[in-house]
Amino acid sequence: MSDIKISIVIPTYQEVENIPLICEQINTSLAGESFEIIFVDDNSQDGSYEAVSKIANHIPAQIIVRTEERGLSTAVITGIESAQGEYVVVMDCDLSHPSSAILPMIEKLASGRNDFVVGSRYIQGGSFDDDWGFFRLLNSKIATWLALPLCHIKDPMSGFFAFQRQQFKNCAHLTPTGYKIGLEIMVKGEFSAPGEHPIHFKDREHGESKLSLKEQFLYLRHLRRLYRFKYPVTSEFAQFGLVGGTGFVIDSLIYFALQAFFGLGHNLSRAISFWPAATWNWFWNRTITFTHREKTGHLKQWLSFLATSLAGFVMNFGTYTTLTSYVPFFIENKFIALMLGVLVGMGFNFMMARIFVFKELDEEILEEEKEFHH
Ligand code: GDD
Ligand code: MN
Repeated sequence: MSDIKISIVIPTYQEVENIPLICEQINTSLAGESFEIIFVDDNSQDGSYEAVSKIANHIPAQIIVRTEERGLSTAVITGIESAQGEYVVVMDCDLSHPSSAILPMIEKLASGRNDFVVGSRYIQGGSFDDDWGFFRLLNSKIATWLALPLCHIKDPMSGFFAFQRQQFKNCAHLTPTGYKIGLEIMVKGEFSAPGEHPIHFKDREHGESKLSLKEQFLYLRHLRRLYRFKYPVTSEFAQFGLVGGTGFVIDSLIYFALQAFFGLGHNLSRAISFWPAATWNWFWNRTITFTHREKTGHLKQWLSFLATSLAGFVMNFGTYTTLTSYVPFFIENKFIALMLGVLVGMGFNFMMARIFVFKELDEEILEEEKEFHH
C-alpha cells in the first residue's frame, strides 16, 4: 500500500504552456496532502516532457509519454492504471477545471455520501465563462439531456471527476472511444451514488480545444453503447419499435398507392405492401437494432425475418378478430383492439427476432472480435 492519498490524472496533448501553471495550482490547493500528478501525453514533442521533468524537482509530477496509442479516453485509463493513490481525480490540463475543487470533491467521497463525483457547471453554484455562443450551449444541453436516463447527473459530460481507486475494478468492458470517458466510467462502473460539486468552468487561454464535430457523432454512438449496456432489452425494443414505426409508414404508403394509382383492391394491396415493408424492417434492424448480434447470411436471415413477421402478422390479426368477435368491449372499441393486435404482433416479432433471426453472439466470439480489433 502506498501512502499517496490523491492521484491526479491529466491527459495532455500539446499543453506545454499549461503544464507548469496547473502544477502550481494543484500544489497550492493540495498543500499538506500527499498527492501525485500523472500526465499522460500522446507524444506532443512540444517540450511537455522536459517541462514536467523540471517541475518534478519540487512537485510530485510525472509524465507518461505514449507513442503507440492516441486519444483522450485511453490516455485517461492509462493514467488511472498507473495511479497509486487512494483517490483518483481526472481533470483537463487547460485550467478549465479549478483545482480548488479537488479537496471538496474528495470530501464528498470520503464522507461516503458519493462514490463518484463530477465537477459540475450545471448545478446550483456552478457556472461557465459567459462567452459561450448559442450553439455551443444548445449543443452541450442536448448532449446532456440525451444522457439523463443513464445517470441522474446535470453535467455528465464533465471531464473533471473523482472516485475511489478501489472502485475502478468494477469498470468491466470499458470501450474507451470518444471524449466522454467520465460518463463511460460512471455508467459501466455502476457507481450507486454519483454526485456533483459545483465548479466555475473557465475557457482555455493557451492552445486549442481538440473537440471536433466528428466527436459529436462519436458521442451518439457512444450513448447507444451505454444504453445497450445499462438497458439491454429496453434499448433493443426501442430501436425495434422505431424501425417498425418507419416500416408502418412505408407499408401504408404502398398500400394506398397501389389502390390509388394501380387500381388494385384493398386486400391485394395489403398482401403486396407487406413484403417491401418487412424487408425494410429487416434491413434496418440488421443495421441498427441488432448490429451487435450474429451476422447471418443475408438471404437466410431475410427469409427467417419474413417468416417471423408473417407469423407476427397472424398473431396481430388474430388478436384483432378474436377480440372484436367475442369481447363486447372491443366490439364497441375496435380501434383499441387494433392497437392491442399491433402490440401483441410486435412483442411476438421482437421475441422471435431476438431468439431466431438475430442470434446472440457467443462470449467467445465476442472475445475474438475484441482481439481482432486491437
Ligand atoms: N493524451 C491525450 N490524447 N490528451 C488529449 C487528447 C489526446 O488525444 N485530446 C485532448 N487531450 C487533453 C487536452 O490536452 C486537455 O488536457 C484535455 O484532454 C481536454 O481536451 P480539450 O481539447 O481542452 O477538450 P475540451 O475543452 O473541448 O472538452 C472538455 O470539456 C468537455 C465538456 O465541455 C473535456 O473535459 C471533455 O472531456 C468534456 O466533455
Ligand atoms: Mn478544454
